[in-house]
Amino acid sequence: MQPAIYDWNSPDGTSPSATGPGGWIPFGGGAKGVMVVDETLRDGLQNASGVNPPVGLKMDLLHAMARVGVDVVSVGLPAAGARHEEDCGLLCREIQAARLPLVPTAAARTVVGDVLAIARAAESAGMPIEVYAFIGSSPIRHYSESWDEGFLVGCVRSAASAARDAGLPFVLVTEDTTRAHPDLLRVLYRAAIDEGAARLCLCDTTGHVTPYGVEALVGFVQIELSEWGAKHVGLDWHGHNDRGLGLPTALWAASNGVGRVHGTGLGVGERVGNTPLELLVDNLARVGARPPVPRKHLAEYCELAARALSWSLPPDHPIAGRRFLREASGSRAYRVVAELEEREEVPPARAVGHASPPRAPASVRPRPLAGGGTEPLVPMTLRLAGEVVQLAVHPRRTLLEALRYDLDLIGTKQGCDKGDCGACTVLLDGDPVLACLVLALDADGREVRTVEHLGSADLDHLDPLVDCFDHAGGGQCGFCTPGMLMSATALLEKNPRPTRAEIKVALSGNLCRCTGYGPILDAVDQAARIRRGEADRPGDRPFAEASPPALASHDAPRKQGL
Ligand code: FES
Ligand code: FES
Repeated sequence: MQPAIYDWNSPDGTSPSATGPGGWIPFGGGAKGVMVVDETLRDGLQNASGVNPPVGLKMDLLHAMARVGVDVVSVGLPAAGARHEEDCGLLCREIQAARLPLVPTAAARTVVGDVLAIARAAESAGMPIEVYAFIGSSPIRHYSESWDEGFLVGCVRSAASAARDAGLPFVLVTEDTTRAHPDLLRVLYRAAIDEGAARLCLCDTTGHVTPYGVEALVGFVQIELSEWGAKHVGLDWHGHNDRGLGLPTALWAASNGVGRVHGTGLGVGERVGNTPLELLVDNLARVGARPPVPRKHLAEYCELAARALSWSLPPDHPIAGRRFLREASGSRAYRVVAELEEREEVPPARAVGHASPPRAPASVRPRPLAGGGTEPLVPMTLRLAGEVVQLAVHPRRTLLEALRYDLDLIGTKQGCDKGDCGACTVLLDGDPVLACLVLALDADGREVRTVEHLGSADLDHLDPLVDCFDHAGGGQCGFCTPGMLMSATALLEKNPRPTRAEIKVALSGNLCRCTGYGPILDAVDQAARIRRGEADRPGDRPFAEASPPALASHDAPRKQGL
């Protein structure tokens, strides 16, 4: 039969894939069997929409992951709060009960308490969870946090030994690896391996790397492992998409022998996001590195990821967009080819290696946040920074839900929904409250201020606190930042001259998942000085001009955590 297309990716125009000498990426034998790690339920939840979906939605997504052939899943960051820890245990139990072919992992800072939270979740689930413990590895991070090499090595060793004592595999995740000095990477990796690390995760946290950089970094680590006699230590790749290179660099890492590559549903994640997992799986199959997955499973995965993350599925998404399914040109033409390929007995997702067939799709539970129940809505008013707004709410609606879903004030984040993390902090009549624990009706007629009400919308006139957080590097993913800003605002309005200890107490209910608190405390301190007229606003000098001192000359390091 005449081929449906002439394929310029192949040497003779007939191959349906990009393998072989004419392929755009030199996949060799090393890329065969590359594993895919799904980070949607960890990195994906640290995106700007700031939700922690009900565990039912997480479970539905878990099943969809199995159907698209995900091998390894991050079940969350248990130290982010009691509900996160509980959900991690429940997800692992679901993996066991449904016999899903997924290896569970969980994230931790390189802090013993975080590792112990994973150990508790593992114990409640009755199965091991791999510990992915992260630490900042680039000089810019060490400069802003005042960390030195001894402090970093101590963190790595104590976290790794805590995982070992709990009988859990340990993976060292070096954040911002693609901007880290090889000498420091050597020291950190050596310390982790000495303590029994099973894997190293190389991260392009800021989406900085090019394929050349991927090849150089992976090659460097592979040589080091070989020289240390540690070839048994596996490698992961975790990339972000700031330059739009998330997918190509992930494929490049796989082609250079990295055993596990990470992605998230629709690429949703910290800041601009990650490698889109559905496209990663699809492209790895197209270059022969993994079994193909039916597109209907990939589309269903995208829909469930969008639902869990409260994300809009882009209409032009290459796999699941509405336009892709409807239009008669462009992507429609591609779809015809995809359908032809699928008809050629494409095997079901991950038919090989399944302990048992995946369960039928669980029904998607309705989002409780959006529902109004059967009880009548009750009219109420809020004074939002002086402006009176009227709304009608279900009697059990929380203030957090009313702000985010009725008033579209999504700056306030939904972290744990249980009063543990402080991400939802707002000011109620000037006092900081956890909006997830306050009923909307309890705020009837009262003054509410959220992060949207700090300073003016004009970026040239930011509140000094916002300015200072920005210049001090007080946020990484930014998930905790609105809550931190509101707690700090309440403090400075009541106490214009707080001591360092008082700042720590005021922020002690606000959890940052991205390690250090040093720049956050510095920012509040600096903002207090500005408000008192004792300091100027931070200048506009770019950080690159500030010439961070060499690691060895840093001041005494600060601890991770308050
Ligand atoms: S969402 Fe975590 S304390 Fe409210
Ligand atoms: S949680 Fe990411 S910056 Fe605090």
